[in-house]
Amino acid sequence: MNTRFTGIKLGPPIEVFALQKTFVDDPHDNKVNLTIGAYRTNEGKPWVLPVVRKVEKLLAADDLQNHEYLPVLGLDAFSEAATSMLLGPNSPVIAQGRAFGIQSLSGTGALRVAAEFLSRILHYDTFYYSIPSWENHRLVFTNGGFKQAREYTYWDEKTRSINLEGMLNDLRDAPENAVIILHSCAHNPTGCDPTPEQWTKIADVIQEKRLFPLFDSAYQGFASGDLDKDAYAVRLFAERGIEFISTQSFAKNFGLYNERVGNIVFVLTDTKELVEAKSQLTLIVRGMYSNPPNHGARIVATVLRNPELFEEWKDHIRTMSSRIKQMRVGLHHRLLKLGTPGTWEHIIQQIGMFSYTGLNEKQVQHLRDNYHIYMLRSGRINMCGLNESNLDYVANAFNETIKLFQEEQNDCTC
Ligand code: LMR
Repeated sequence: MNTRFTGIKLGPPIEVFALQKTFVDDPHDNKVNLTIGAYRTNEGKPWVLPVVRKVEKLLAADDLQNHEYLPVLGLDAFSEAATSMLLGPNSPVIAQGRAFGIQSLSGTGALRVAAEFLSRILHYDTFYYSIPSWENHRLVFTNGGFKQAREYTYWDEKTRSINLEGMLNDLRDAPENAVIILHSCAHNPTGCDPTPEQWTKIADVIQEKRLFPLFDSAYQGFASGDLDKDAYAVRLFAERGIEFISTQSFAKNFGLYNERVGNIVFVLTDTKELVEAKSQLTLIVRGMYSNPPNHGARIVATVLRNPELFEEWKDHIRTMSSRIKQMRVGLHHRLLKLGTPGTWEHIIQQIGMFSYTGLNEKQVQHLRDNYHIYMLRSGRINMCGLNESNLDYVANAFNETIKLFQEEQNDCTC
């Protein structure tokens, strides 16, 4: 029988989810999952934050909770608390009424709504993303209506650090009103963030060339364990009077991956068009998913607004970020001890969940085929997949693989 669906082309797999599935299906005993960015305990298990469990129980027992629709722009208590967490409790832009937040479907949903707003309402048509970047930025912005996708230099393969001059040159060449996607902290995938001095230089060019910054804030608190430190760049731009949008995700720092809790923060230079902007956002959301879900946002709002629960949560983010740091030190130490060729300082210098190891595609494939260690083609590993039980195994596998490929290169007479 003929179907109308004949001729549909097969889309490419989403690497991170495809790998996750291959990992789950792999029966090997010593398999290691360093793919998708999700926190794991030292026992290799997902972690429901105790403060989240506590609030879930409170909510379940609260007869005043119901399943009525939220407003189109979400729960005010949540978006206000989330905006204040990002910009700081004493933020002048909040005090002056120049900032507001709206609830979104995690960071990705926030990016999608922001992209549509920027392309349809402000008529911006060009966006820039870092090379490399989280692979979804391009797709989300293109689907959000942007016509021109452009790259800016970020990574220096040789020094395994930021190529700031390259980045600034690319930004200087960008047309006015180009939207520049910046990772506010814990750059995904490199784990390499600009220093405060470098952020100042980036802000200078953005201001001078009249570009529009869009911060993707997916790791506040999770990167360094300190909410203020991880918000440095966003707050610098706010202080300098630069208008911007910042998307926020609560997937990693609250461990609420599948609850899709996010916020979009708008920082304006004055309040003149604020009501109009909100009205357009209302129409965008209404036409896309009508209104957001309650559960996760209610949890985050409850924690951020209660001083005791807030302290408890800050303890949790310190626990997560310090375990990651320990794994960095553990891997670095073992690679050095094994005499693994190459430099490995970057493993301990990078920040956040990910490390850009420098392993190439062939090495990555070899590690998967022979050691059942899974990571992205780019050599990005999720540090949280490492623990005391698999560190030796992973370090040995890296060492053997790198030496094997080095020998093959030396043997090559071509
Ligand atoms: C990742 O980068 O692994 C996570 O942010 C998950 C995702 O959606 O890609």
